Amino acid sequence: MAEGTNKERAILAYSGGLDTSICIKWLQENKDLDIIAVVGDVGQEHGSLEDVKQRALASGAIDCLVVDMREDYANDILAKALAANALYENKYPLLSALSRPIISKHLVNAAHEYGAKYIAHGCTGKGNDQVRFETSVLALDPALQIVAPVREWDLGSRDSKMAWAREHGVPVPTTSEKPYSIDDNVWGRAIECGVLENPWNEPPDDIWTMTVSPMDAPDEPTYVDVQFEGGIPVAIDGERMSFLDIIYKMNEVAGENGFGRLDIMENRLVGVKSRECYEVPGSLSLIVAHKALEDMVLERDLLHYKLGAELTWADQVYNSLYYSPLKIALDGFFAETQRYVTGTVRMRFYKGNCDVVGVKSDYSLYDHGLATYDDSDTFNHDSAKGFIDLFGLRNKVWSENRHAMDAVHEQLAGVAETKDEFAE
Ligand code: ARG
Repeated sequence: MAEGTNKERAILAYSGGLDTSICIKWLQENKDLDIIAVVGDVGQEHGSLEDVKQRALASGAIDCLVVDMREDYANDILAKALAANALYENKYPLLSALSRPIISKHLVNAAHEYGAKYIAHGCTGKGNDQVRFETSVLALDPALQIVAPVREWDLGSRDSKMAWAREHGVPVPTTSEKPYSIDDNVWGRAIECGVLENPWNEPPDDIWTMTVSPMDAPDEPTYVDVQFEGGIPVAIDGERMSFLDIIYKMNEVAGENGFGRLDIMENRLVGVKSRECYEVPGSLSLIVAHKALEDMVLERDLLHYKLGAELTWADQVYNSLYYSPLKIALDGFFAETQRYVTGTVRMRFYKGNCDVVGVKSDYSLYDHGLATYDDSDTFNHDSAKGFIDLFGLRNKVWSENRHAMDAVHEQLAGVAETKDEFAE
């Protein structure tokens, strides 16, 4: 650590990019703070993190911590996301929303270690990520204060920021600006901005790095057996691995087969609709496998109830409430549901598709005798008549009171009126 001063300290979530590098100098000059940068490895594509650290120090940080958060991220956060089959708006596996709480946890730890009063981040005022950092930090330690330089400074375009950086001795990136805004980690990759801002533009090929085009994928299918214990993947094709390594492996297999590209319209928390492209080969294929196993081992009412709770969980996490009482209580519920989610799912990847082609479990509730139409049938057909009589009774009583026909007539009249309106 460089020589400390008696100034107040801020912990900065540092990526090594232009904005967060400027943040260091800007916070020193405008808020009179000493800065400790924290670089989190959450499995993003990156060059040398030692170089990132050197850039933080060269930009004026008094220290820089490089923290490998990947195991923690997988075992603590992604395991819960998988238990919840978490897909915001039934589509998006929440990769950015899930990484902020783990980064925030490490920022708060660093604040305690360095005696810092402030936490700073380089998010803009338009996105969800600022809300996620700030609500997570304040939930973990309400005494901390937030500084968001990018919301305060008025440094204009990238060119003028480059000029500001040069004038203030901040090392500027030597690589040219990427035409997209990218956020990635082991759970996937988000690509925004540039030509993607017009939803009519087909995503250009160069946005994708984790997946091949389904059109270029191998002509032969790839089969993978994923083994789960208590809802957590523990082995691939019989070989035991950590959950983190399984995610890496599934990113590779699914990505090579062109599975896991999303191009969707999304509702941001801050009220904006945005067009989002995602690459989620590992996360999405694991959710597909996990759901298939749950379909086999979870009792019907529990499964149905869980489906609704999953959407609530995803909403909470998307909307920055990872550390909230409702989300934590739902984790307790999901943990109970995962008790018997043990078994093996066979998946087939082929040209952009991911299909479940086999499921087995010692806790299967699928009963061949009850389900079969052949001679080994054990289902009691005689019970069906009485069951239907009683099950349908309320509807029969309703109909006997002429309600059913009235409803049909009303509907027909409605259709006729609409037709007339069109004819006018
Ligand atoms: N729209 C996604 C979300 O809110 C992705 C955000 C990506 N973040 C970024 N800084 N590019 O979760």
